[in-house]
Amino acid sequence: MDILGSAQNRNVQGEEQQKLDVLANETIKESLKFTGRVCVMGSEEDEEMIPIPAQYRPGKYVVLFDPLDGSSNIDVNAAVGTIFSVYRRVSDHGRGSLADILQPGVQQVAAGYVMYGSSTMLVYTTGQGVHGFTLDPTIGEFLLSHPNIVTPAVGKYYSVNESNFARWDKGVQTAVRGFHGDLPEYIQGKNSRYIGSLVADFHRDLIAGGIFMYPADKKNPNGKLRLLYECAPMAFIAEQAGGAATDGEQRILERVPASLHERSPLVIGSRDDVRFVADTIARVRDSALQAVGRPDRRS
Ligand code: AHG
Ligand code: MN
Ligand code: MN
Repeated sequence: MDILGSAQNRNVQGEEQQKLDVLANETIKESLKFTGRVCVMGSEEDEEMIPIPAQYRPGKYVVLFDPLDGSSNIDVNAAVGTIFSVYRRVSDHGRGSLADILQPGVQQVAAGYVMYGSSTMLVYTTGQGVHGFTLDPTIGEFLLSHPNIVTPAVGKYYSVNESNFARWDKGVQTAVRGFHGDLPEYIQGKNSRYIGSLVADFHRDLIAGGIFMYPADKKNPNGKLRLLYECAPMAFIAEQAGGAATDGEQRILERVPASLHERSPLVIGSRDDVRFVADTIARVRDSALQAVGRPDRRS
């Protein structure tokens, strides 16, 4: 079906597009544009916002998506996903605008992902808990297999690309040492799992308990993941399952995006583990400030 390999093109992020990135993006846009429900769309793969074509009626909602998450896994047949986020428009009529898109995550009315793993699953929230459906290919329907998913407050796993260790701030390094079991005050060492697909890594942590991080590093000073297509929808799901999500300083859902493709550091998953990372980052930063004679930023 010619779905493997590179599309010989780069997207707005400067990343090489895979054929499946392009196919997924076109499929989602085609499925939404004529519905009369959507006034504007935004995609990781499109530089500009995506207007609804003139021949179709614009609707009440804004849909933002990462059509194919985990692209580096396509050609090796590991799990990939699709992430989506839905907002109510803020303008009252006509075609949607950037103002409709640039809303903080707390305003989301729905968010979810599809994971193409050993089974295909749809996991979503509309702000009333998180529910998971598994595709039964014999009847072509998604069946409710995971009602009311609740993430354990402390997880078994941590998921982070540790090849970036030397490029992280000391606070992040210290937190990860805690997961190794190296901090006396944090004795729960964790097991490590990292696929490199946010959807798959997040899904494991959501079900089994754990924490996923993509912190800022010297190469990616604002982190790598995108606030609107990746961080905000996953944060909505995490919180609805009893977990938490922060950029290290601020709750992800309260961040007001300034641009369509804005990036953010992400620390997400089991509540107590996320708090541990945020506290460790703050503690290490405060002691560094005190060491150079500047006041504690909390005082
Ligand atoms: P995408 O395939 O949509 O560009 O997203 C890839 C993201 C995310 O899924 C994953 O967590 C992260 O990039 C992996 O990045 P590294 O290879 O730098 O670990
Ligand atoms: Mn992605
Ligand atoms: Mn993608």
